[in-house]
Amino acid sequence: MMANVRKPMVAGNWKMNGSLALLKSFTDSLESSSTIDTVLCLPAPYLTAASKGDFALGAQDCSQFESGAHTGDISVSMLKELGVEYIIIGHSERRQDHAESNIVVAEKVQTVINAGLIPILCVGEPLEVREANQQNEFVLEQLQAVQTICGNEFIDNCVIAYEPIWAIGTGKTASPEQAQEVHKFIRTELLKWNSNAANTQLLYGGSVNASNAEALFANEDIDGGLIGGASLKLEDFAAICKAAG
Ligand code: 13P
Repeated sequence: MMANVRKPMVAGNWKMNGSLALLKSFTDSLESSSTIDTVLCLPAPYLTAASKGDFALGAQDCSQFESGAHTGDISVSMLKELGVEYIIIGHSERRQDHAESNIVVAEKVQTVINAGLIPILCVGEPLEVREANQQNEFVLEQLQAVQTICGNEFIDNCVIAYEPIWAIGTGKTASPEQAQEVHKFIRTELLKWNSNAANTQLLYGGSVNASNAEALFANEDIDGGLIGGASLKLEDFAAICKAAG
């Protein structure tokens, strides 16, 4: 088993927001610390303009196919050519807006890993599942779909983000205890499949901000965050990075 070398990570997910002017303020002013992995997952049109920033480049999705007749889609090799290192896969907004099934999500994870990039695989339950206290079962099913297609090795090269849907963009953050409970469950299950899960960066996402980040990140199995709204404000994002470092 490898030594436990988990480094905190803060990844911003701009979603379909921002502008070239906002990006310039990040490339000019965001300073990363070597103690954490700082990633910005940008809208695809902005990726070329971001290469000089002091952060790793992330994309928000890619095709499960390597190339071909898929109008409007973006291949992993194209993203790799732009210097992208991380790709968010299976965000709940893509699962909802684009009807991405667990199987499509798993195929995308495999495509990203095959290209030597790192998927940030998103899992998380809707409100009614949380209210029925079935969140662990729900998340496990999402992870099992990936395991079935990718095998246990996907854990060697994958970041996992737990993003309860009821907490995304709602200002209703999971409490540190709620988040840690699911993170611990995820790590325990992954460890049954692959001992390298001890090193897997598990991020929490859902209304993380400069005020609540520290309490969330203080937990044993929360290795950082996937940040939506607060990643669009330079000062807030920098403060969240500081809370992780
Ligand atoms: P918010 O931080 O805006 O809740 O979004 C979280 C998210 O979906 C990150 O991927």
